[in-house]
Amino acid sequence: MELQRLLLLGFLFLYVVQVAVAKFVVEKNSLTVTSPEKIKGNHDSAIGNFGIPQYGGSMAGAVVYPKDNRKGCMEFDRFGISFQSKPGSLPTFVLLDRGDCFFALKVWNAQKAGASAVLVADDVEEALITMDTPEEDSAAPKYIENITIPSALIEKSFGETLKKAINGEDMVNINLDWREAVPHPDDRVEYELWTNSNDECGVKCDMLMEFVKDFKGPAQILEKGGYTQFTPHYITWYCPQAFTLTRQCKSQCINHGRYCAPDPEQDFSSGYNGKDVVIENLRQLCVFRVANESKKPWVWWDYVTDFQIRCPMKEKKYNKECADAVIRSLGLDGQKIENCMGDPNADVDNPVLKEEQDAQIGKGSRGDVTILPTLVVNNRQYRGKLAKGAVLKAICSGFEETTEPAVCLSGDVETNECLDNNGGCWQDKVANITACKDTFRGRVCECPLVDGVQFKGDGYSHCEASGPGKCNINNGGCWHDAQNGHAYSACLDSEGGKCQCPSGFRGDGVKSCLDIDECKEKKACQCPECSCKNTWGSYDCTCNGDLLYIRDHDTCISKSATEVGSAWTAVWVIIIGLAIAAAGAYVVYKYRLRSYMDSEIRAIMSQYMPLDSQAEVPNHVSGDHA
Ligand SMILES: *[C@@H]1O[C@H](CO)[C@@H](O)[C@H](O)[C@H]1NC(C)=O
Ligand SMILES: *[C@@H]1O[C@H](CO)[C@@H](O)[C@H](O)[C@H]1NC(C)=O
Ligand SMILES: *[C@@H]1O[C@H](CO)[C@@H](O)[C@H](O)[C@H]1NC(C)=O
Repeated sequence: MELQRLLLLGFLFLYVVQVAVAKFVVEKNSLTVTSPEKIKGNHDSAIGNFGIPQYGGSMAGAVVYPKDNRKGCMEFDRFGISFQSKPGSLPTFVLLDRGDCFFALKVWNAQKAGASAVLVADDVEEALITMDTPEEDSAAPKYIENITIPSALIEKSFGETLKKAINGEDMVNINLDWREAVPHPDDRVEYELWTNSNDECGVKCDMLMEFVKDFKGPAQILEKGGYTQFTPHYITWYCPQAFTLTRQCKSQCINHGRYCAPDPEQDFSSGYNGKDVVIENLRQLCVFRVANESKKPWVWWDYVTDFQIRCPMKEKKYNKECADAVIRSLGLDGQKIENCMGDPNADVDNPVLKEEQDAQIGKGSRGDVTILPTLVVNNRQYRGKLAKGAVLKAICSGFEETTEPAVCLSGDVETNECLDNNGGCWQDKVANITACKDTFRGRVCECPLVDGVQFKGDGYSHCEASGPGKCNINNGGCWHDAQNGHAYSACLDSEGGKCQCPSGFRGDGVKSCLDIDECKEKKACQCPECSCKNTWGSYDCTCNGDLLYIRDHDTCISKSATEVGSAWTAVWVIIIGLAIAAAGAYVVYKYRLRSYMDSEIRAIMSQYMPLDSQAEVPNHVSGDHA
């Protein structure tokens, strides 16, 4: 009994391994040594299948090869080693040797010591392989979740080159580039998720379920907007011919051993069987097909997340009844789904699952799918942590720059580089304005648009408000001050925000404007009856006795202003009357002169041509005044 069980597992395992050896494609990012001169150049490196690779972006750093703990299997703290880069210097890329412990543990230890990325040098001469997460290490899950830095495996020989340069006291600078890790052939991104409905397989299943729940939102936005075409896939295995009639194959497979899944609890005699998983996987495939036919492929995400929540194995609800309830609640056509699933007991191929098995085999650049879960973006296998932000970044990098949908530029995929030293961009701390903008491609330094006012400049060392409205922001960079309830600004909105001291002040208009003492400088209030008192930005002038100060004329006049007023009115009436008379005379004169001149000209003209036959004037003449 036990032997048979082992045998079967062995067969299933063999099948997987064989596939893996055959055509496993390692996803690469490009690595460029930028200094020292003598080892400059491009190299391939294999993206680790954990941590967060910067899909669509790039990252520069200085390589450090630690003096101790070179395999990174122990905490660097113990050796007093820190990789924290000093402010203003390049981030640290730690070079570690392969061996002795899991890749993920090396990366985790380096991250804790402040590394920004990890390069693992292979210890054998071979083609690059993918660094995957450990499956068996029970302590692993706790730190793998927390790995956020990218990592890459490099070839042994290249590792030696780097070490030699570092030992020779050279500063080794490297640029990691993920921009071409996902191709962008058109304006729609096609992606696939190779998944599983099994919810009891430990860490990987938990991670997958968590991801599907998290990613549902962005996935549906992308799909509804027509930006992506998503297809879910499910891996199945077949039972070796000789075993199709064993109890094991019968419990793990449907359609007479054609489509199998491993037992969820790895215990053939209790709980759910592999067969139950295959059937639910098939149902989920059919849910997608039926939803896709009605042009609503995104309903798959609803079904899968609802099923997870409502029908978990733990509560013994992982069954058809529960699934049907979810299908009904989503308004899907249950009968169509049944038809699509076919009869699991029949000794025939199931077209849907057959297609899945065929799709498992790699085509073109994709390679075979052997790791579950696997995400494929634009026909390239995604490597890295299966988390919302990281995956969205990878999908977004499948769009040509500037064609990416808004969800790509939302907070979910921000790199938060602006939080660190403002990303090295210009900022005005007082007005709280910055040129740093986080995007999934990394931060950009771009002079901002604030309250409708465009800032202009290089974005790094300077930005300046320009155009109308400039004075509203930080007073256009001009001088301004307020005292005793009086406020003055040197910013002239009418002249595009020019800084010029207001009247009553003098200075450069930017840093300072000083009050002019009008009294001392004899600029106003100088009449004999006046007494002058300077104020900030202006002056007060009063007149002696019964006189009133008229500011516009800078003079004192009698307070009985009405007399003066009526005298002026009389003068105006006369002036206006005269003006009207003059205008009338002019019009009459003009009219008479006109008609006189007209008749004169007519008289002269008539001597040259007969005016009453104007219509017959030859064409070339009329052409002159056309
Ligand atoms: C991982 O991060 C979480 C949340 O930040 C923290 O609670 C947990 O202790 C971390 N795990 C390890 C192994 O550091
Ligand atoms: C989903 O529908 C689209 C067209 O609407 C089609 O191109 C695609 O092949 C369908 N996918 C599946 C898996 O049926
Ligand atoms: C600056 O502005 C940002 C967003 O515009 C805001 O979140 C932040 O609290 C502001 N900081 C200060 C010091 O006002």
